[in-house]
Amino acid sequence: MSQKNIHPIFDSMLTKADKEKLLNQKGIVLWMTGLSGSGKSTLAKGLEKLLYQNGHLSQILDGDNLRTGLNSNLGFSIEDRTENIRRVAETAKLFCNCGIITICSFISPTLEIRNQAKEIIGTENFVEVYINTPMEECEKRDVKGLYQKARAGEIKGFTGIDSPFEAPKNSDIELKTSNLSIADSVDYLYENVVKRIKK
Ligand code: ADX
Repeated sequence: MSQKNIHPIFDSMLTKADKEKLLNQKGIVLWMTGLSGSGKSTLAKGLEKLLYQNGHLSQILDGDNLRTGLNSNLGFSIEDRTENIRRVAETAKLFCNCGIITICSFISPTLEIRNQAKEIIGTENFVEVYINTPMEECEKRDVKGLYQKARAGEIKGFTGIDSPFEAPKNSDIELKTSNLSIADSVDYLYENVVKRIKK
């Protein structure tokens, strides 16, 4: 086929703005950080459902899931966590550029690791959400039994026990889950997200 028969629309890829127009929403990345057992995944799932019910497309990227596939070769040293977050941030950027509300749920324990994610994704699209649940509460819940194992020395380098967690100081959204029900937390998140994705 000669060049002149190619429609100009095929000359370039569609932009983020084109896709946002189709979806009638802005693509952003909600970066949920917090301790293991703080409620990140539960809230991510609740938020995804509420967004869906209100006509919004989102995608969850979650530590436990991505570590079985894309990041299955990574452990929990600071170097591996840094690489985990780098790959996640690059993936989140792709979804975000497609106009999708991308909900990332990762401990992302240090300021440096979260800054790396912000840099890759771009400040304008990065919304940091601190799921602030005290360590004692997470350990009491111990949904996966991992705190018990870490205390027994069966897991080394566990966040909050023998690996650091630097609490964010200036998150865009902070949720103190101890005083809130899951439903109230999801509603609070939703209200804060909806105003950021308005076209
Ligand atoms: S991150 O530090 O690299 O951001 P990520 O969110 O992907 O961590 O994975 C955390 C999940 O892995 C936890 O919720 C827990 O289920 C599991 N896990 C297994 N070992 C550890 C560990 N040493 N520290 C923290 N979480 C661990």
